[in-house]
Amino acid sequence: MAGDQAIRVAVRVRPLSKSEGTENAWQIEKNSIFMLNPKTQKAQPDAVFQYDCCYGPETPTAEVYRRSAQSVLDSTLDGMNGTLFAYGQTSSGKTHSMSGSAKEPGLTPLLVNDLFDRIQQDCDTNYHVRVSYLEIYNEELKDLLSNATPHIRQSMTFCPMPPPHQTEHVYTI
Ligand SMILES: Nc1ncnc2c1ncn2[C@@H]1O[C@H](COP(=O)(O)OP(=O)(O)O)[C@@H](O)[C@H]1O
Ligand SMILES: [Mg+2]
Repeated sequence: MAGDQAIRVAVRVRPLSKSEGTENAWQIEKNSIFMLNPKTQKAQPDAVFQYDCCYGPETPTAEVYRRSAQSVLDSTLDGMNGTLFAYGQTSSGKTHSMSGSAKEPGLTPLLVNDLFDRIQQDCDTNYHVRVSYLEIYNEELKDLLSNATPHIRQSMTFCPMPPPHQTEHVYTI
Protein backbone atom coordinates (compact mmCIF):
# COMPACT_ATOMS: atom_id res chain seq x y z
CA MET A 1 0.00 0.00 0.00
CA ALA A 2 1.37 3.38 -0.93
CA GLY A 3 1.51 5.72 2.06
CA ASP A 4 1.42 4.39 5.59
CA GLN A 5 -2.29 3.63 5.99
CA ALA A 6 -4.28 0.76 4.53
CA ILE A 7 -7.55 2.70 4.61
CA ARG A 8 -7.86 6.38 3.97
CA VAL A 9 -11.08 8.38 4.16
CA ALA A 10 -11.77 11.64 2.34
CA VAL A 11 -14.82 13.88 2.51
CA ARG A 12 -16.00 15.89 -0.46
CA VAL A 13 -18.58 18.64 -0.07
CA ARG A 14 -20.53 19.39 -3.22
CA PRO A 15 -21.73 22.87 -4.24
CA LEU A 16 -25.18 23.75 -2.92
CA SER A 17 -28.07 23.39 -5.33
CA LYS A 18 -30.36 26.36 -6.02
CA SER A 19 -33.00 25.03 -3.64
CA GLU A 20 -30.43 24.71 -0.86
CA GLY A 21 -29.58 28.41 -0.91
CA THR A 22 -26.13 29.94 -0.71
CA GLU A 23 -24.97 29.47 2.86
CA ASN A 24 -23.08 26.25 3.33
CA ALA A 25 -23.20 25.21 6.98
CA TRP A 26 -20.07 23.11 6.55
CA GLN A 27 -16.66 24.70 6.39
CA ILE A 28 -13.35 23.08 5.58
CA GLU A 29 -9.91 23.87 6.89
CA LYS A 30 -7.08 21.59 5.81
CA ASN A 31 -8.22 18.09 6.83
CA SER A 32 -10.99 19.25 9.18
CA ILE A 33 -14.63 19.81 8.42
CA PHE A 34 -16.83 21.63 10.88
CA MET A 35 -20.29 23.09 11.19
CA LEU A 36 -20.62 26.81 11.77
CA ASN A 37 -22.89 28.02 14.51
CA PRO A 38 -25.16 30.41 12.58
CA LYS A 39 -25.34 32.84 15.53
CA THR A 40 -21.68 33.06 16.47
CA GLN A 41 -20.28 32.10 13.05
CA LYS A 42 -17.76 29.96 14.94
CA ALA A 43 -17.19 26.22 14.70
CA GLN A 44 -19.58 24.18 16.84
CA PRO A 45 -17.27 22.21 19.13
CA ASP A 46 -19.40 19.05 18.89
CA ALA A 47 -19.40 19.18 15.08
CA VAL A 48 -15.72 19.18 14.14
CA PHE A 49 -14.46 16.12 12.27
CA GLN A 50 -11.10 15.17 10.86
CA TYR A 51 -10.37 12.96 7.86
CA ASP A 52 -7.33 12.12 5.78
CA CYS A 53 -8.47 14.73 3.27
CA CYS A 54 -11.34 17.19 3.04
CA TYR A 55 -12.37 18.75 -0.26
CA GLY A 56 -14.57 21.79 -0.66
CA PRO A 57 -17.10 22.50 -3.41
CA GLU A 58 -14.48 24.21 -5.53
CA THR A 59 -12.10 21.23 -5.67
CA PRO A 60 -12.04 19.60 -9.12
CA THR A 61 -12.33 15.82 -9.41
CA ALA A 62 -8.87 15.67 -11.00
CA GLU A 63 -7.39 16.98 -7.75
CA VAL A 64 -9.42 14.50 -5.68
CA TYR A 65 -8.05 11.78 -7.95
CA ARG A 66 -4.45 12.94 -7.59
CA ARG A 67 -4.59 13.31 -3.81
CA SER A 68 -6.92 10.50 -2.78
CA ALA A 69 -7.23 7.85 -5.50
CA GLN A 70 -4.00 7.65 -7.47
CA SER A 71 -2.17 5.91 -4.63
CA VAL A 72 -4.72 3.09 -4.79
CA LEU A 73 -3.60 2.51 -8.37
CA ASP A 74 0.05 2.64 -7.27
CA SER A 75 -0.64 -0.09 -4.70
CA THR A 76 -2.60 -2.17 -7.16
CA LEU A 77 0.29 -2.09 -9.62
CA ASP A 78 2.46 -3.29 -6.72
CA GLY A 79 0.19 -6.34 -6.43
CA MET A 80 -2.19 -5.25 -3.66
CA ASN A 81 -5.97 -5.33 -3.77
CA GLY A 82 -7.36 -1.84 -4.11
CA THR A 83 -10.86 -0.44 -3.71
CA LEU A 84 -12.37 2.98 -4.21
CA PHE A 85 -15.61 3.25 -2.31
CA ALA A 86 -18.00 6.21 -2.45
CA TYR A 87 -20.45 6.52 0.42
CA GLY A 88 -23.13 9.12 1.02
CA GLN A 89 -26.81 9.88 1.01
CA THR A 90 -28.72 10.33 -2.23
CA SER A 91 -27.67 13.48 -4.05
CA SER A 92 -24.48 13.91 -2.04
CA GLY A 93 -22.32 13.60 -5.18
CA LYS A 94 -21.28 9.93 -5.45
CA THR A 95 -22.09 9.57 -9.15
CA HIS A 96 -20.51 12.94 -9.91
CA SER A 97 -17.33 11.88 -8.10
CA MET A 98 -17.12 8.31 -9.39
CA SER A 99 -18.47 8.55 -12.96
CA GLY A 100 -18.47 12.28 -13.64
CA SER A 101 -19.25 13.66 -17.08
CA ALA A 102 -17.47 14.34 -20.36
CA LYS A 103 -16.68 17.82 -19.00
CA GLU A 104 -15.40 16.59 -15.66
CA PRO A 105 -14.56 12.87 -15.74
CA GLY A 106 -14.96 11.02 -12.46
CA LEU A 107 -12.49 8.96 -10.48
CA THR A 108 -13.30 5.74 -12.36
CA PRO A 109 -12.44 7.00 -15.88
CA LEU A 110 -9.45 8.95 -14.51
CA LEU A 111 -8.11 5.84 -12.81
CA VAL A 112 -8.77 3.53 -15.77
CA ASN A 113 -7.04 5.94 -18.18
CA ASP A 114 -4.10 6.21 -15.82
CA LEU A 115 -3.96 2.43 -15.47
CA PHE A 116 -3.83 1.81 -19.21
CA ASP A 117 -1.28 4.63 -19.72
CA ARG A 118 0.97 2.97 -17.17
CA ILE A 119 0.49 -0.49 -18.64
CA GLN A 120 1.46 0.87 -22.06
CA GLN A 121 4.62 2.38 -20.64
CA ASP A 122 5.71 -0.94 -19.12
CA CYS A 123 6.66 -3.21 -22.02
CA ASP A 124 8.32 -5.86 -19.82
CA THR A 125 5.26 -6.97 -17.88
CA ASN A 126 2.09 -8.79 -18.89
CA TYR A 127 -0.93 -7.33 -17.17
CA HIS A 128 -4.26 -9.05 -16.65
CA VAL A 129 -6.98 -6.53 -15.85
CA ARG A 130 -10.32 -7.60 -14.42
CA VAL A 131 -13.01 -5.29 -13.14
CA SER A 132 -16.11 -5.70 -11.03
CA TYR A 133 -18.69 -3.03 -10.49
CA LEU A 134 -20.89 -3.13 -7.42
CA GLU A 135 -23.43 -0.88 -5.80
CA ILE A 136 -24.87 -1.13 -2.30
CA TYR A 137 -28.28 0.48 -2.13
CA ASN A 138 -30.61 0.21 0.86
CA GLU A 139 -28.35 -2.49 2.32
CA GLU A 140 -28.65 -4.56 -0.87
CA LEU A 141 -25.69 -5.47 -2.99
CA LYS A 142 -26.17 -5.07 -6.72
CA ASP A 143 -23.82 -6.39 -9.35
CA LEU A 144 -23.82 -3.77 -12.07
CA LEU A 145 -22.27 -6.22 -14.58
CA SER A 146 -24.81 -9.01 -14.10
CA ASN A 147 -28.46 -9.58 -13.23
CA ALA A 148 -27.59 -12.37 -10.80
CA THR A 149 -27.90 -11.52 -7.12
CA PRO A 150 -24.48 -11.65 -5.48
CA HIS A 151 -24.07 -13.39 -2.12
CA ILE A 152 -21.47 -12.05 0.25
CA ARG A 153 -18.95 -14.58 1.53
CA GLN A 154 -15.93 -14.11 3.68
CA SER A 155 -12.94 -16.37 4.05
CA MET A 156 -11.40 -16.73 7.51
CA THR A 157 -8.00 -17.59 6.07
CA PHE A 158 -7.57 -15.02 3.36
CA CYS A 159 -8.63 -11.44 2.84
CA PRO A 160 -12.40 -10.88 2.67
CA MET A 161 -13.62 -12.59 -0.48
CA PRO A 162 -15.52 -10.55 -2.98
CA PRO A 163 -18.94 -12.03 -3.65
CA PRO A 164 -19.14 -14.30 -6.70
CA HIS A 165 -20.19 -11.47 -8.90
CA GLN A 166 -19.39 -11.04 -12.54
CA THR A 167 -15.93 -9.82 -13.44
CA GLU A 168 -15.00 -8.67 -16.90
CA HIS A 169 -11.62 -8.90 -18.57
CA VAL A 170 -10.57 -5.56 -19.92
CA TYR A 171 -8.27 -5.42 -22.91
CA THR A 172 -8.47 -1.80 -23.92
CA ILE A 173 -10.53 1.32 -23.29
N1 LIG B 1 -18.44 18.29 -6.79
C1 LIG B 1 -19.51 18.64 -7.51
N2 LIG B 1 -19.46 19.72 -8.32
C2 LIG B 1 -20.55 20.10 -9.06
N3 LIG B 1 -21.74 19.46 -9.04
C3 LIG B 1 -21.85 18.37 -8.25
C4 LIG B 1 -20.75 17.91 -7.46
N4 LIG B 1 -21.16 16.82 -6.78
C5 LIG B 1 -22.44 16.61 -7.14
N5 LIG B 1 -22.85 17.54 -8.02
C6 LIG B 1 -24.20 17.62 -8.60
O1 LIG B 1 -25.14 17.36 -7.55
C7 LIG B 1 -26.20 16.53 -8.01
C8 LIG B 1 -26.28 15.25 -7.18
O2 LIG B 1 -25.05 14.52 -7.36
P1 LIG B 1 -25.02 12.95 -7.67
O3 LIG B 1 -23.63 12.63 -8.04
O4 LIG B 1 -26.08 12.57 -8.66
O5 LIG B 1 -25.40 12.34 -6.24
P2 LIG B 1 -25.54 10.80 -5.80
O6 LIG B 1 -24.96 9.93 -6.87
O7 LIG B 1 -24.79 10.72 -4.51
O8 LIG B 1 -27.01 10.58 -5.57
C9 LIG B 1 -25.94 16.26 -9.47
O9 LIG B 1 -26.68 17.22 -10.23
C10 LIG B 1 -24.45 16.53 -9.64
O10 LIG B 1 -24.11 16.93 -10.94
MG1 LIG C 1 -25.86 8.39 -7.94
